[in-house]
Amino acid sequence: MSATEQDPPVSDLVGVGFGPSNVGLAIALAERRGRGEAAPTGVFLERQAAFGWHRGMLLDDATMQVSFLKDLVTQRNPASDFSFLSYLHHVGRLNDFINHKTLFPLRQEFHDYLSWCADRVSDQVRYGHEVVEVLPVRTGERITHLDVVTQDTAGRRTVLRTRNVVFGPGLRPRMPEGVEQSARVWHNEHLLTNLAQLPPKAAPHSFVVVGAGQSAAEVVEHLHERFPAAHVHSVFTRYGYSPSDDSPFANRIFDPEAVDAFHTAPEEVKRTLLGYHRNTNYSVVDPDLIDALYRRHYAEKVHGTQRLHLHNTSRVAGLTESPDGVAVVLEDLVTGKQTPVAAGYVVFATGYHPADPRPLLGSVADLLHTTPDGLPAVERDYRMATRDELTCGLYLQGGTEHTHGVSSSLLSNVAVRSAEIIDSIQARTPVPA
Ligand code: FDA
Ligand code: NAP
Repeated sequence: MSATEQDPPVSDLVGVGFGPSNVGLAIALAERRGRGEAAPTGVFLERQAAFGWHRGMLLDDATMQVSFLKDLVTQRNPASDFSFLSYLHHVGRLNDFINHKTLFPLRQEFHDYLSWCADRVSDQVRYGHEVVEVLPVRTGERITHLDVVTQDTAGRRTVLRTRNVVFGPGLRPRMPEGVEQSARVWHNEHLLTNLAQLPPKAAPHSFVVVGAGQSAAEVVEHLHERFPAAHVHSVFTRYGYSPSDDSPFANRIFDPEAVDAFHTAPEEVKRTLLGYHRNTNYSVVDPDLIDALYRRHYAEKVHGTQRLHLHNTSRVAGLTESPDGVAVVLEDLVTGKQTPVAAGYVVFATGYHPADPRPLLGSVADLLHTTPDGLPAVERDYRMATRDELTCGLYLQGGTEHTHGVSSSLLSNVAVRSAEIIDSIQARTPVPA
């Protein structure tokens, strides 16, 4: 394909996805324009029909795993009126929140905050548009533009031409090898949506929940509370749930400065750092929730009415689904003993992996430089390292844990990262004021 005089208009950037990362970027763009500064023009494409952040896990009592001060703006611009505090002021809850003396809002409340932000920059987004491919546009020997192809819910395709693409596609559920999601076998990603679709008077008699991370612990607690007659089997290979490290020195690994250190560190040091601080985020549970689950489990022992069953050092050795339920075989890794469990539903809370943008890039992916592990090489400004033939920018928000550290898929760095990406786009493709 070659650029011609009849070519469509060209934007400075197209954002793939409109989760917190790209909403943060849209706010940073809006704030620059609001100050009369030069800012790239852009449009964001979101496959959902409206803004939504992990809707399937918006459990009633679940709280954020990050301080509200790590909202979409404060670390970049503490005076921004897109802050969580501005939101609280707007909805008339600022004093109530202050009295609450917490740094950790309810997850449902943070969802409302994020939606409030997204609504205020909705002029920059097209909902119901899934990006299905990105095509190269050549000018002579070079690829100077990219055509971002979207598909809406009616199957209609649209093409947007741009100089830069910012990928913020988020996470994808991770199921154990060979296990597929089905009517009775779920990933926790869709927990609330799936529960809402159960027949109105259904009272499942038994659940199996696999995993020992924050999601698994939350799901176990929710199911045990919501279905007062159901048995809930929590299955994990560890000896017990392990606490997340939220202590102040360890928390520094999420600071913007830690990204500088991580990015320049030798590969071996990168791996060591990720190992040291894995327990700030992965396969760990908030200590308050661990206590709550232990209390629940112990109280049932006292009352002699055990329906919360902890299968530690155990794995799922068999899974046979029928229209009436799932026959699960649990295996104790210490003794080898197998225990059958007749479950109504099995929830795999087995984590997530970052969405890989490369399948969307088709032949453009061949121009990417990769790390020795075969992952995209990413420069400090979040731009994927490419051959010179490609002069447009491919930026990543998320999926950069191997190059930028553990904050990559989290909210911790969204505010600062947004500005870094805009600065990079402006430096490489200057935008007139
Ligand atoms: P996110 O996944 O939120 O958004 C990506 C968006 O892109 C989605 O809206 C998706 O529909 C869209 N999309 C994907 N592919 C597309 C395509 N091809 N075309 C168009 N649109 C596309 N972190 C943290 O710091 N503190 C916390 O408290 C939590 N809590 C938390 C709870 C739960 C249940 C989970 C699973 C995760 C967290 N996280 C977290 C981590 C989480 O990754 C983080 O909060 C943000 O969701 C990251 O925002 P993103 O915008 O990068 O991805
Ligand atoms: P996770 O931390 O990656 O935990 C996954 C769990 O599943 C681990 O216990 C893991 O085992 C187990 N597992 C993985 N593959 C398995 C397999 N094939 N068979 C059996 N078990 C398997 O995932 P998560 O709990 O979903 O958390 C992911 C992210 O979301 C984290 O950033 C977390 O903070 C965030 N989150 C936040 C909230 C909140 O804000 N309140 C809620 C939920 C999630 P091992 O123990 O052996 O590793």
